[in-house]
Amino acid sequence: MKAVVYDRLGAAADVLRVVDLPRPEPGPGEVRVRVSFSGVNPTDWKSRSGATARPADEFQIPHHDGSGVIDAVGPGVDEDRVGQRVWVWMAAAGRRWGTAAEWTVVSDQQAVALPTGASLELGASLGVPAVTAHRCLFADGDVAGRTVLVAGGAGAVGHFAIQLARHAGARVVTTVSSAAKAELARAAGADLVVNYREPDVLERIRAFTEQVDRVVEVNLAANLSLDLGLSGPGTVVSVYAANHGAADPELPIRACMGANVVLRFVLLYGVPIADLLRGVTAVSAALEAGALTELPVHRFPLEECAAAQDAVQSGAVGKVLLDVG
Ligand SMILES: NC(=O)c1ccc[n+]([C@@H]2O[C@H](COP(=O)([O-])OP(=O)(O)OC[C@H]3O[C@@H](n4cnc5c(N)ncnc54)[C@H](OP(=O)(O)O)[C@@H]3O)[C@@H](O)[C@H]2O)c1
Repeated sequence: MKAVVYDRLGAAADVLRVVDLPRPEPGPGEVRVRVSFSGVNPTDWKSRSGATARPADEFQIPHHDGSGVIDAVGPGVDEDRVGQRVWVWMAAAGRRWGTAAEWTVVSDQQAVALPTGASLELGASLGVPAVTAHRCLFADGDVAGRTVLVAGGAGAVGHFAIQLARHAGARVVTTVSSAAKAELARAAGADLVVNYREPDVLERIRAFTEQVDRVVEVNLAANLSLDLGLSGPGTVVSVYAANHGAADPELPIRACMGANVVLRFVLLYGVPIADLLRGVTAVSAALEAGALTELPVHRFPLEECAAAQDAVQSGAVGKVLLDVG
């Protein structure tokens, strides 16, 4: 099969190669997926570049997320799954068989049935962003009837945070940096969209709500004072991104105490499997209910994986996918 691999860390164009590999066979409890789309996330370029190195075992096929059709199952897996359209999550976590290849092999539970109405492009966009959004929103309980602030509502995690929160019955405020991103956030279903580059951001949000119950935070250093200005007893700020090259924020302990705020940090690689599976089940239910939509898609052929990863690194607006066919 054709697969993108790397066996050393470095710049995308230097280390990513398309090679021919034997097609992997599913082992016990595993399924093999003929990949249609491979979803690219920031974690993929960070791992490959060495920014957040994870050991590469002989070779690594990149990318956790994908979609396609199950074409073989291993011992112990229901044979009726053959032919099922699926979305795949965390394929490359601790394993060599990422989704940037014609086939991938994952555990049975990492290939989730895709409802008829959901496109393969949407399926390949879900894994890392939607499961992260779920963890940030729900690790501290339900959000029905609550108000959620999503920082960066046009980002991949931000997009699904808006949609999962709305689906759960929350009101959603989001911040963006441009009119085009505001359009995306509105289309995702946000109740209030504020451009954080314009003046009076706190006042404009305060006119909508005095306090928020959750913050899904992409840039704590930049937004800490806004978050604290909207925090009070019961507010949880869930931080899921570290900003490479930027200084970590200094924590104003007195202001955090005054707000009685809870700071939560989320890194998917360390979330207990039971919680990840709860997230996958909830994302699946939202998908089934038609509550999730895709961001604008940028397609790259498998051979242009390096360009696709570079596009993500440069902050492409929307979702970057490899069209594997
Ligand atoms: N912890 C985890 O397990 C986990 C999981 C998924 C992703 N991540 C990390 O989370 C980050 C985002 O991932 P993604 O896939 O969602 O990327 P993305 O699609 O590029 O979205 C990031 C969004 O954040 C916005 N943003 C940046 N600074 C902001 C600020 N100060 N206030 C509000 N919005 C801001 C960006 O827009 P503007 O710059 O135009 O504002 C962009 O829309 C990456 O660093 C990724 O590595 C971590």
